[in-house]
Amino acid sequence: MAQAKLRKKKTNVVETEKQHLIQTYARYDLIVARGKGCWVWDTDGKKYLDFVSGLAVNALGYSHPRLVKVIREQAGKLIHVSNLFYHEYQSPLAAALKKITGMDRVFFCNSGTEAVEGALKMARAHGVKINKNKYEVVALENSFHGRSFGALSATGNIKYREPFEPLVPGFKFVRMNDMAALQASVNGNTCGILLEPIQGEGGIFEITREYLRAASAVAKKHNALLIIDEIQTGLGRTGDYLATHAFDVKPDIVVLAKPIGGGLPLGSFLAREEAAANFVPGMHGSTFGGGPLACRVALEFLAVLKDEKILQNTRKMGTYFKKRLEQLQKKHSMILSVRGRGLMLAVELDRPSKPIVIRGLERGLILNSTHETVIRFLPPLIVDKKLIDQACKILDSLFTEAAAR
Ligand SMILES: Cc1ncc(COP(=O)(O)O)c(C=O)c1O
Repeated sequence: MAQAKLRKKKTNVVETEKQHLIQTYARYDLIVARGKGCWVWDTDGKKYLDFVSGLAVNALGYSHPRLVKVIREQAGKLIHVSNLFYHEYQSPLAAALKKITGMDRVFFCNSGTEAVEGALKMARAHGVKINKNKYEVVALENSFHGRSFGALSATGNIKYREPFEPLVPGFKFVRMNDMAALQASVNGNTCGILLEPIQGEGGIFEITREYLRAASAVAKKHNALLIIDEIQTGLGRTGDYLATHAFDVKPDIVVLAKPIGGGLPLGSFLAREEAAANFVPGMHGSTFGGGPLACRVALEFLAVLKDEKILQNTRKMGTYFKKRLEQLQKKHSMILSVRGRGLMLAVELDRPSKPIVIRGLERGLILNSTHETVIRFLPPLIVDKKLIDQACKILDSLFTEAAAR
């Protein structure tokens, strides 16, 4: 009886959503009810090991006690105040992010897309002050920067772009790690170069140190701003605060979002002083951006990263997990490659990855299928060896089963 009741509840949620929502998401058959650590439970009480972390948002897992505590406290004090006024938390958060990124100034918004949008506007403002034709942006093929018109125009994936063309003019795409192509595309009319250090949605492809250095040099040569989209890679995911820290290149703008708000919507872009000076009051803004609740939680998130040595754990667990995936590759010929850094990893398969991801859900493991043949892994940064072993055991059986199909 109880089971029948639960099934009915599940059908209701799924069916009513189908009636009411604009159908933009092809959701999996899972209604998430609650989460704790690296685990979530569905409305039937079934438990899942989450190796996607709400798409790289839940870096500290679910219901981290320190985040829950400050959310409770701050919600009782002040949730929102407009940007007409000051509050206590924007400035300390900005100071903390400046320290992490080496940038000089910060703008707060509510998502990655919005942060990219602001960064692109800043590059445009920089360019047109010099010459009215200096509005071009060079981005990478296979990139993903978001779905608003500006961010979509910078996204090098025809699938997302085509239904909305014509997009914003002035965007050019070059092949990742092809230095000659980059140098040939950047010129006096370029106002910005936009790069993801590791393409996430694109299937986990890394730019090389040499490429990033060449991008920095060519940006300087033509007085264009180098914008690094660290929305998915940033704030610990690769085992560093920024994936580009390992490359020792100082960009003009860094874009952050995903984990920064501890699960609350928060994004930001940070700029060097000279780039930031292109914006004056009235040129950009956001009603919700940088509210007291999100900023206070972000401060706590950064404090936990430090106190609980999360970056060290990410490096250690990332190395361990990658090694385990490489062992699986030796056993299963359908795994063509293992890619990534820290806890931003992927396996490329010789077949579509979605059926395996769906079977994974049935077996209690949350995985992400991207780029048709890739399984992307973005576990919470608090993951441990035991949980990685547990996930690998399920993966092993999923690959065995897929090979037999
Ligand atoms: C690298 C990158 N840039 C931008 C975005 C867009 O961020 P959001 O979905 O928060 O708008 C994403 C989201 O996946 C991303 O991975």
